Amino acid sequence: MGKTKEITVSAPGKIHLLGEHAVVYNKPAIISSVNLRIFVTVKKSFKKIEKIKLQQIVEQVLKSKLKIKIPLYELEIKSDIPVGAGLGSSAASSSTLIAALLTLTGQKWDLKLINELTYEAEKVFHGNPSGGDNSTVVFGGLVWFRKESADLKLIHPLSFSIPSKLSKNFVLINTGKPKESTLEMVEMVSSQFTVHSSQFRKIFDMQEKLVKELLVALKTGDSTSMIRIIRAGERNLENIGVVSKQVRSIIRKIEKSGGAAKICGAGGEEGPTGILLCFHQNKKVVKDISKKFNLEYLNIKLGVEGLRRES
Ligand code: PMV
Repeated sequence: MGKTKEITVSAPGKIHLLGEHAVVYNKPAIISSVNLRIFVTVKKSFKKIEKIKLQQIVEQVLKSKLKIKIPLYELEIKSDIPVGAGLGSSAASSSTLIAALLTLTGQKWDLKLINELTYEAEKVFHGNPSGGDNSTVVFGGLVWFRKESADLKLIHPLSFSIPSKLSKNFVLINTGKPKESTLEMVEMVSSQFTVHSSQFRKIFDMQEKLVKELLVALKTGDSTSMIRIIRAGERNLENIGVVSKQVRSIIRKIEKSGGAAKICGAGGEEGPTGILLCFHQNKKVVKDISKKFNLEYLNIKLGVEGLRRES
């Protein structure tokens, strides 16, 4: 018997460049893919192996949406994407397994379909996700995302790539997995919104303006504007209460050294807040700050290719 064919599919992680939380209140966000990838390999097998949660969720989605029969298969996962840090690991892992199983069962490669099915899996993982994560990891690049109403979401891939003079200055620091879930943070902001409505509305309006300015700065490669936008966007996130004291002190150090940093995603009220997006003309300074706080430093590239077949 010949060697059974292996199918490997990979997908990148994602980060919110700006607009998280405000996006829940119908404001725009820009999300980017990052070159931390997950690789999923499947091959047909004759052994029944106990399934992990990811397989159970994905197979259920495939069975209910497409009525396809999935044969026995072996699964191998290799990932550079930290889990629970706001880097889209669930969307990346679901999309790759969906694409690999569709290929294994002889279906044609269709990114739009894979994205729709990944959104269904994301609903099982997260309850009421926006749909921005799965679209970014599947299509890659930069995505402009806006929820217009409960059933209308504008997911618009941006057709340009970030000029390298700007993109080379981005790095990530992993402050660790937040204690609170995304859902808990969204609910906390919502209860504060009811108490301080006019103040929060002003903050979200400012965030919308900054997201629009960010779009221009990303396109033109304007470093001075980038530092100003990230700093101001971070202040707005702090003012709605999603950045812990511990993480604020790291961000202040980066700002003092001439750079800018912000939380990405839901954040946290106490302790770790997940990934920090940092921008600095001298990345070594950020690396030294991360070392001082004993935190993981990740040299990344933004706007990379989305889901792809590797073999
Ligand atoms: O923490 P993440 O990466 O799941 O991002 C959450 C982003 C929020 O705007 C806070 C919530 C949402 O659904 O958009």
